[in-house]
Amino acid sequence: MNELLIRGGVPLHGSVKVKGSKNASLPVIAASLLTDGPVVIEEVPDLLDVRTMIEVVKSLHADVNYDSSREKLEINAGSIKNQEPSCELVQNMRASFLVLGPLLARFGKARITLPGGCAIGSRPIDLHLKGLAGMGVEFSVSGGMIEARTDRLRGERIYLDYPSVGATENIMMAAAMAEGTTYIENAASEPEIVDLANFLNSAGARISGAGMKSIRIKGTGGLNGTSHSVIPDRIEAGTLILSAAVTGGDVVVNNVLTDHISPLVAKLKETGVYIEEVDISAVRIKKGGRTRGVDLKTLPYPGFPTDLQPQFMTLLALSEGTSLVTETVFENRFMHVDGLLRMDADVIVEGNRAVVQGRNALQGATVQASDLRASAALLLAGLAAEGTTIVSNIDYLWRGHSGLEERLSGLGAQIEWRTSSDQEQLEISGE
Ligand code: UD1
Repeated sequence: MNELLIRGGVPLHGSVKVKGSKNASLPVIAASLLTDGPVVIEEVPDLLDVRTMIEVVKSLHADVNYDSSREKLEINAGSIKNQEPSCELVQNMRASFLVLGPLLARFGKARITLPGGCAIGSRPIDLHLKGLAGMGVEFSVSGGMIEARTDRLRGERIYLDYPSVGATENIMMAAAMAEGTTYIENAASEPEIVDLANFLNSAGARISGAGMKSIRIKGTGGLNGTSHSVIPDRIEAGTLILSAAVTGGDVVVNNVLTDHISPLVAKLKETGVYIEEVDISAVRIKKGGRTRGVDLKTLPYPGFPTDLQPQFMTLLALSEGTSLVTETVFENRFMHVDGLLRMDADVIVEGNRAVVQGRNALQGATVQASDLRASAALLLAGLAAEGTTIVSNIDYLWRGHSGLEERLSGLGAQIEWRTSSDQEQLEISGE
């Protein structure tokens, strides 16, 4: 495990570029398994979850070539034969479960381990299984393994009790090659769903309505090789924007699709942060006086993203007045609070709510990251705090960002990456 040493209190200045989206890359890599020709995916960030997903498709015997310096990934799944992805990989990253839909579409069967437990609450897969069962898949679960089998995947009208991102993706991928038409009602409408549909359509699928509550997928016999460029990462964009806001800097963040961050922009404006669209893909952030506390509730898109709640809480910890943060998407997603408290924040957690009383300043401390977004929140707190902060277990940050600390250093942040003697493993975590 590594740690970051941050000398806080330096306002960030300059411009910085957001990388391709982790949460768009992972399903697109899984979806490559549906195709029988070469697939080229660009803007694929070099981070741990992407590397894990690459290993998953390799474990199914796809040919993969990843040029990490050019962020370009080539996959040929034309001759995959294996229908059982590596258990260890699936348990280490919940998103690996996204290969289930493609495997069922290609082979009519798959054997996959139940995804592991997770640091941000128990995350069932019932909606994935219920949707696929509606399309004619039979499941049996024994010894932690799921056996899935179907003679014929058929289109169906599927209603999701909750707009799960992963379930929408898994069902959409299976439906792309099913017989007949599938409708997913109450589907997730995250930008990553739209990106996946665009990828699948470019490979010959017939999907309409992605990004809306009802998605229609007309099944087709097979998908071809294609090329695709992944959308920018809206969560990384938000993290960089918030790092400028908490330090009181003046930063231009490039490669942002501003529509995708509108819930964040609305909330930032409420706090008093100055944020303007410089052009279609860049925003400038400047903090004037002290920010004001606001109430915040996480919701499925287009609501405020749960993946930015920890980082936004760091801003609230420094804003004037009282803020109420309500987490509705995941249970147990206040793992960053312990670290913030050590840094002198005033936060009281009760169930899925946190009451944040803003302080004039945070104090540097030694804190421990517990998951990806918690590590980003503590990094931001360290940038804003007086004195020196050490964030240990910082490897979690690499699950979702590629060289974030280097890019922050380019904006003037004083950050040092250090190898810790502690050899603890990254805990199973599932974002
Ligand atoms: C994806 C994102 C993650 C983000 C989350 C919510 C990826 C790789 N990860 O995760 O970063 O935080 O969306 O925006 O894209 N649920 C069920 N049953 C199911 C599936 C989900 O009850 O079958 C529940 C989960 O426990 C959770 C909620 O639904 O409470 C949201 O989960 P979901 O939308 O599926 O998130 P992921 O796809 O896992």
